[in-house]
Amino acid sequence: MTEKMKLDIYPDQASGSVAIAREIADIIRTKNAKGETAVLGLATGASPLKVYAELIRMHKEEGLSFKNVKTFNLDEYYGLTHDNDQSYWYFMHHNLFDHIDIPEENVNIPCGTMPMEEVAEWCDGYEKKIDEAGGLDFQLLGIGRSGHIGFNEPPSDPQSKTRMIHLHAITRSDAAPAFGGLENVPTDAITMGVGTIFKAKTIILMAWGASKADIIKRTVEGEMSDDVPATYLQAHPNCKFVVDTAAASALERSK
Ligand code: GLP
Repeated sequence: MTEKMKLDIYPDQASGSVAIAREIADIIRTKNAKGETAVLGLATGASPLKVYAELIRMHKEEGLSFKNVKTFNLDEYYGLTHDNDQSYWYFMHHNLFDHIDIPEENVNIPCGTMPMEEVAEWCDGYEKKIDEAGGLDFQLLGIGRSGHIGFNEPPSDPQSKTRMIHLHAITRSDAAPAFGGLENVPTDAITMGVGTIFKAKTIILMAWGASKADIIKRTVEGEMSDDVPATYLQAHPNCKFVVDTAAASALERSK
């Protein structure tokens, strides 16, 4: 077997996203039935959009409640304020939180605007907050074409914690159209570390479309290495990749 990850292939992003949303809803319902808060790690980017749309639909049509859910987002660009439409704060509110019943005080997103000298202390506080919430029950991940998870660019340490990181050239050029040009893309970001992500009890990484086929092949079939931080997930006890046929197209099994 050349594959080093558990991997489910769906015909398209829509069907894969519905399957992921169902798993998230199951975690929320199971925890809430025991009177416990579900703690979710959430991602941004184009990849989770249909997952969030399905969670909103389940909230509106099936009564899925987020009142007893806490969320921790993976990352945020450094230097962007909440009202900037490229900030992850804006993204999360616009695409999920404004449409569900989660209490705002249960929402945690890395801050991109604290002064440089406060960043390290702020990041330690984020780690503590996750631990005090009981740790992440679930973490949703996309993957960057640099092999990053969150903004853990190569070469990120497998033990890394929440910190400031310098963005990879591929990441900045992928983001350039949304920012109206490379010169407007922030150079740095705050991200949960690989070690922070690894403490999640369950992890799902999603990837859709042919542009992710090469990095999915390197992550799923390649050796674990800091050149592709996503390969560290090969060692997680409860991690699964959910991809569409296009993102799976370079895998040996697709040939
Ligand atoms: C962004 C985010 C990642 C995301 C990745 C892929 O830069 N920081 O968390 O997974 O890049 O983005 P997309 O889903 O738009 O392809």
